[in-house]
Amino acid sequence: MSSKIPVGILGATGVVGQRFIQMLEHHPWFEVAWLAASDRSEGKSYAEAARWRLKTPIPTAVAAMRVSPAIPDGAPRVIFAALDAGIAAELEPRFADAGCAVVSNSSALRMQQDVPLVIPEVNADHIKLIDGQSWRKKSGGYVVTNPNCSAIGLVLALAPLQQRFGLETVMAVTMQAVSGAGYPGVASLDILGNVIPYIAKEEEKMEEETRKLLGQMNGTKVVSATFAMSAQCNRVAVEDGHTESVSIRLKRKAKPEEMIAVWNSFRAEPQELQLPSAPKNPVVYFGAPDRPQPRFDIDIGAGMTTAVGRLRPCGVLDWKFTVLSHNTIRGAAGAAVLNAELLKAKGYLG
Ligand SMILES: NC(=O)c1ccc[n+]([C@@H]2O[C@H](COP(=O)([O-])OP(=O)(O)OC[C@H]3O[C@@H](n4cnc5c(N)ncnc54)[C@H](OP(=O)(O)O)[C@@H]3O)[C@@H](O)[C@H]2O)c1
Repeated sequence: MSSKIPVGILGATGVVGQRFIQMLEHHPWFEVAWLAASDRSEGKSYAEAARWRLKTPIPTAVAAMRVSPAIPDGAPRVIFAALDAGIAAELEPRFADAGCAVVSNSSALRMQQDVPLVIPEVNADHIKLIDGQSWRKKSGGYVVTNPNCSAIGLVLALAPLQQRFGLETVMAVTMQAVSGAGYPGVASLDILGNVIPYIAKEEEKMEEETRKLLGQMNGTKVVSATFAMSAQCNRVAVEDGHTESVSIRLKRKAKPEEMIAVWNSFRAEPQELQLPSAPKNPVVYFGAPDRPQPRFDIDIGAGMTTAVGRLRPCGVLDWKFTVLSHNTIRGAAGAAVLNAELLKAKGYLG
């Protein structure tokens, strides 16, 4: 019998669900034991139900698994959730209420006061919010979330700067990949040769999540950071990888070589604990003037490293630079798997 922790995936057939399956195939601690999706997929084998979009094949054991109904009966105690926000708002609390640890990708509960929104390298201490959740008190279940796929790359680039120099103002303009819209996502006729300057609710999510992530635990709640923040989000015809043009004003003076050193030397608890999905370098600075680019740099650190480049003075704020992050790995499934690893290391998975 396997000694691994059995896990389930809610929304297993979608873009993020597929990444979970790929990332968990050889995971040393977790094993996929249960899959659920909508009633369109229920009862089918996973291979029949999912339009598999990844370059590696569906793991054999998973291909033959039946897709279960999305109800807690029969589900394992650890659930990775990759559901649309509307459905997540209804289903995630139901699973937490039934005693499951719900490690969620969706925005539904991210900003709820008692729900931790976590990047393990940035705010691992926020998982303490779990202890105050009513589900936790009642059944042992709880919900932990990871951020929006654009907020996570931005925050990984900002956190080392905030720690060393303090942040006063942040402006970010995104160029977001089509895989960020799920499958089938944006119609090809809308996106080919085009830029769509609107992604519903994305700018609000980036602004409020960035401040919560970089906020401080104060007793039993998180006090969001107060720096000024403005995000503009665009969808572009790139398959995977969100690129962001960022301008910042810092509280204390910084030299470019100090900022680059702060990024390249950034390490945190996941690296110290050697969590299986933690990249060796959470942030890497690229010196070439035309990097990072999604086509070449998206898989750095197995998709878990945030690439930063083009640091230069900004004529309006202090500095500007480019950020690139893999939206379905660091921005979704990988973020949740790393959160679950942190939870296990901290004794929250029993
Ligand atoms: N794509 C990204 O880069 C990304 C990044 C970060 C966060 N997210 C978030 O992750 C979540 C999933 O995104 P996605 O891109 O994977 O979406 P997606 O490709 O549209 O997949 C949605 C999944 O939810 C399932 N589903 C739909 N209705 C359901 C219902 N009533 N009950 C149970 N399951 C249901 C679908 O199952 P069927 O196949 O049976 O319809 C499918 O498995 C969203 O909240 C999204 O915002 C996505």
